[in-house]
Amino acid sequence: MPKILVTGGLGYIGSHTVVELLNDGFEVAIIDDLSNSERFVLDRIEEITGKKPDFFEFDLKDQERTNQFFAENKVDGVIHFAASKAVGESMVKPLIYYRNNLVGLLNLLDAAKDHHIDNIIFSSSCTVYGQADELPIDEKAPIKKAESSYGKTKQMGEEILEDFARVFDKKIIALRYFNPIGAHPSALIGELPKGVPNNLIPFITQTAAGIREQLSVFGDDYPTRDGTAIRDYIYVMDLANAHVKGLKRLLADENVDQYEIYNLGTGTGSTVLEVIQAFEEASGTKLNYKIVDRRPGDITAAYADNTKAAKELGWTPETSLEESLRTAWEWQKTLD
Ligand code: UD1
Repeated sequence: MPKILVTGGLGYIGSHTVVELLNDGFEVAIIDDLSNSERFVLDRIEEITGKKPDFFEFDLKDQERTNQFFAENKVDGVIHFAASKAVGESMVKPLIYYRNNLVGLLNLLDAAKDHHIDNIIFSSSCTVYGQADELPIDEKAPIKKAESSYGKTKQMGEEILEDFARVFDKKIIALRYFNPIGAHPSALIGELPKGVPNNLIPFITQTAAGIREQLSVFGDDYPTRDGTAIRDYIYVMDLANAHVKGLKRLLADENVDQYEIYNLGTGTGSTVLEVIQAFEEASGTKLNYKIVDRRPGDITAAYADNTKAAKELGWTPETSLEESLRTAWEWQKTLD
């Protein structure tokens, strides 16, 4: 079976994707610097799959070490997750974000070029669209100036990859995630936010668990059906599955273009209040929340047109919002 390098493979989406790859029979090597992940996730992956991926702890900014990895390990493809991802933090530490997300990518691509790695999947984000003029958002929607430095690193990463694919004759798929949520059904792996969560779902589950006193709902004066902002919450195992499908497309030379882009979302938008209600039903708990001012930089609404992924990758999300939230809650309960 092909061997796949997963950078950031102990992180949130990375670890769930590693599980899907191993369950599909792929061999997996993980590079992760543990900057936003925990070593025990490796054991959990083994517990779920019965297989232990090779693990290499280092930072892709270390170019020499990155080259050494490729010199010593033959891989057939790369799924590149390793990056910093906190929108707010990126606004106060932009240089760290540019360095982590772009230097890491460039070092990886240099090594991929030198070692003839042809198949690359890149973790991108719906943030590249900014506030789109039309909903749902398809892949042809214009890329607007990103609000955050994090968003800019994803836009720039995509540009770099497009050039890389063309000049060096590589096959690349960029996957633009909407809002990833939930945990593996075993509750052995899930999202592990450091400190106070920025994202809605971990904040909700921590509030329900009593770790946070109250959820702040950021704004109820948006032009939406209940005044709260709309997002497309996609289950992390459905996302993981899309990576495997994308990878198989590249490995089988089924891609039409050298550089392809897919939106990964459910196609349905939910308001913050709808998410709260779905969580209350899924968990059987009552959530303590209050409405506060809008969070600066937040957009009104984003949800995906996922028909391209359905048609070309054969991917359709299968998990409901309620079920996804239930897995998030089961995972949270293991963390206390
Ligand atoms: C942001 C980024 C996205 C990134 C994701 C993961 C943008 C436009 N989006 O998504 O690219 O991949 O983070 O880090 O930059 N909310 C509350 N209370 C909270 C937290 C959130 O009401 O305590 C609301 C937000 O206002 C928003 C929704 O919940 O309407 C989702 O927020 P969040 O989970 O932070 O994700 P995004 O901001 O959509």
